[in-house]
This record gives sequence, C-alpha cells and structure tokens, in this order.
Amino acid sequence: MTYLLALDQGTSSSRSIVFDRQGHVVAQAQQELPQIYPQPGWVEHDPRLIWQTQIDTARAVLKQAGLSARDIHAVGITNQRETTVVWNRKTGQPIHHAIVWQDRRAEPACAQLREQGHAGLIQQRTGLLVDAYFSATKLQWILHHVPGARAQAEAGELAFGTVDSWLMWQLTGGAVHATDVSNAARTMLFDIRHNRWDPDLLALLGIPASLMPEVRPSSADYGQVRPELLGAPIRIGGVAGDQQSALFGQACFRAGMAKNTYGTGCFMLMHTGNTFQTSKNGLLTTSAAQPSRQTEYAIEGSVFVGGAVVQWLRDGLNAIQASSEVQTLAQSVPDAGGVMMVPAFTGLGAPYWDPEARGTITGITRGTTLAHIARAALESIAFQSTALLQAMSRDAVAAGGSPVTELRVDGGACVNDLLMQMQADLLGIPVVRPAVIETTALGAAYLAGLSTGLYAGTDELSDQWRAERSFEPSLGRAHAEERMAHWERAVRQATAT
Ligand code: G3P
Repeated sequence: MTYLLALDQGTSSSRSIVFDRQGHVVAQAQQELPQIYPQPGWVEHDPRLIWQTQIDTARAVLKQAGLSARDIHAVGITNQRETTVVWNRKTGQPIHHAIVWQDRRAEPACAQLREQGHAGLIQQRTGLLVDAYFSATKLQWILHHVPGARAQAEAGELAFGTVDSWLMWQLTGGAVHATDVSNAARTMLFDIRHNRWDPDLLALLGIPASLMPEVRPSSADYGQVRPELLGAPIRIGGVAGDQQSALFGQACFRAGMAKNTYGTGCFMLMHTGNTFQTSKNGLLTTSAAQPSRQTEYAIEGSVFVGGAVVQWLRDGLNAIQASSEVQTLAQSVPDAGGVMMVPAFTGLGAPYWDPEARGTITGITRGTTLAHIARAALESIAFQSTALLQAMSRDAVAAGGSPVTELRVDGGACVNDLLMQMQADLLGIPVVRPAVIETTALGAAYLAGLSTGLYAGTDELSDQWRAERSFEPSLGRAHAEERMAHWERAVRQATAT
C-alpha cells in the first residue's frame, strides 16, 4: 500500500492525516494550538508551539496508523494563511510571536496605504484589497517594533515566512526557505500574474527582498523531512494555503467550479482558470494551488461569522448545550417564523464590506421561541453564503463565463443536513457533499502525490472525487428570491446601526 501524509496547520489546531492512494482517511491526529491575545484586536501564536504541536501530531498519526515513515510516499503541507513569522536564519529562533491573520494591529498602516492612493496598484499586482488581514503590513510591523529587526533584516540575517515556510524550515533543518504560490498570494507582496515577489511593493513597504522565501509551484520538490524527526527521510512534495488546498481537494480544477468551507467563518472559492480577473463585487483574486508553473486563479470571498453563530447560541444565549444540538432545535419548527438574524458581530465582509455593521435580530413576535432564533441563525449562514455565490456568479458572467452550477461543500458544519438543504434551496443549484470531507488535508496530500509521480495528473484526481450526498433545491425560484430580498432588507437594517 502507498500512503500520503498531510500536515494541516490551522488557526485553532495542528492536525496530521494519513491518506491511502484513493484519498481515504487512514488515521488522523490533532492537537489544539493555544491562542494569545495581548490586547483587543491582536491575535498571536507561539511559532515554537506551531511546530511542536505539528510534529507531535505527525508522530502520533503514524503510530495510530501502525505505519513507519518508510511507508509514507510523500508529505503535503497545508496551513492557516497570511499568519506571519520572522526568524533568525542562524539560530532558527523566531524574533516575535507569529501575528495571526485575524490580527488587526496593522490597520493604521493599511489606512495610510489607501490614503496615499496605492490601493489600485496593489489590487492590480496582487489581486487583493488593502487590508490588515494580509501578511505585508504584519511583517512591516515586526520590522518596525522588534528592536534591531530592521538592521538584521537589511544584513540578510532574518527570514520571513507564512506558516508553511516556517514548518518547512523546521522539517528540513533550515535547508529549505520556500513557499508556494497560493501562500505567497496572501502576503500582498506577490505579483500573481508573473508569480514573483513584486519589487515595487517590497520597496513601497520597506521590506528587504532578502527576507523573502523562494516561491515554487504548489506541487514541487520542497526537500526532505530530516530523518531523525520521523524515523526516515520523506519527500515534501506539496504545499498550499488551506483554502486553496480545499479547492484542490474538492477537485475544482476548472473555471466555474466552486467550493464553500463551513467553519467558524465560511471561505468560498471559485476557480477562474488561467486568466487573472479582478472582481467587480468586492471579492478577492488569488492564486489557486498550481500543480505546475502555469498560473491558475480563484476568486475568493469569506463570511466572517459562519459556524461561530452556533457557538454564540451555545455560549452567549445558552440555547443549546452542544453545537450538534442546533439541527434538532431548528428542526422543531417548520420555519423561522419571520425571524431574520444578521450575525454581523464584527462587521460584514464581501459583498457588503461594512466594518461598522452590527448583529441584528428582526421580526420577533410574541410567538417567537429559541427554536425560531436557532433556525434563523442557521439560515444566516446559508443567506450569507448565497450572497457570496451570487456575487461570484456575477463576476463569472461579466468575464464571459457561466454562473456556478454546483457548490461543493466541506468543513465542520457541512455535516448539518438541514443547513445544506437550506443552502441548496436558496442557491437553486445542487449542493454536493463529498465522501471525504477532509478536503483541505486531502488537497495537500494530492499535491504531494502529483509531484512524486503517484498520480499521473489531475484527471485521475477528478475521477477519484466521490459525492456522498447531493442536496437538490426544493424551493421555487420566486420564493427563494423573495427570501433573499427579505435577507437583504435585514442586512440594510444591520448596516444602518
Ligand atoms: O485566511 C485564513 C484561513 O486560511 C484560516 O483558515 O481554517 O485555519 O481558520 P483556518
């Protein structure tokens, strides 16, 4: 038997999964990653714990599977994106905690870039809207605030990386300082049309080029895991940011194919083929995982509060004891009884972009119960995702393509049948849940399997992709549109607060 090992370093946990050649999960191990909140709006991780938890789970998963490193054909890495690590090349020690993608401390630097009129150039080169979410201004912050960092960077003594680079550095004992195009695309320093660090943007942000990792395709030779770590050397053959990795693991290889990951937030990506296309609807353009040197793109949008609304029902309202109870509670009523919830707890993202918006619950009557609120909370995930997909379809049509015809789903909340049916009803297209829902890790494993010759090409992976269940729309289009119009009215109320 041939096996692939995926390392999936996420925001809240580090996980390792062993897959067989057919993409079935053989074993998995997970460790939580401690979060550090030094002040409101700041989020950090200890890079040493990122590494420690990751390698611990890799050892644990091999043990659990009853395998040795020699049984592993190749390793793939996928990771939380944008999170920024800077370390000393000689000592290998980080010079600061990792600044996590959710961290907002660099907002003033972004405001300045916008005020100085650089947003157009940045979008043209990177496909991104200027925001503290991306790595560039986080890196700038570290260089500015850690004593001596700028001088060390200028002397070539420091290395920058997103989490994939940091893990690779550790795995290879400092032999490889690299990243892949899909991670590089999230730094706001990468020219996604020419697949290279953009010298103008590096200069604009005052970032010495010597800090930057070498960029390779997502499926490529990234060196070998040091033999002493897992018992034998293993080739690192694939690397991708987690959302692009999930798109790949869902076998969305052609323009118009889209996936939505239902986690704490929701991340929706649509493949757009080989042509760079900027969104007219407030979405981001990003590099898809690229198996070769050929550029491939995706349009991306995210819902800030997805599954988190269920956590709020549990922890904020005490409406349920465990998240898994939400479906039963929501199903105990036939509909939300006119209640509409807009969970704009931290503002609204695409396609609304209103950081000042706040959550609202409207349509409450004397007959409203917790069950109606729970149902409205679940519906809010489907409404927000529908608004995103509609924006994507508008972009696709504007670029001469066709609207999205099917949505592939993954992430924790995709096991909720009620939510998936609501999603299909609102979208009016099938919502398809794959047999393997660990698509993020699977994408990285596939990328590793491709570069090492285990698979002949992506067609083989498309053939391997299996649906577990397809949720077909059961609501008339007029009714669905009426529901969306109701949602949009509620959004207007949330943004007016
Ligand atoms: O862009 C942020 C994203 O990559 C984080 O994903 O799954 O670690 O929360 P996750």
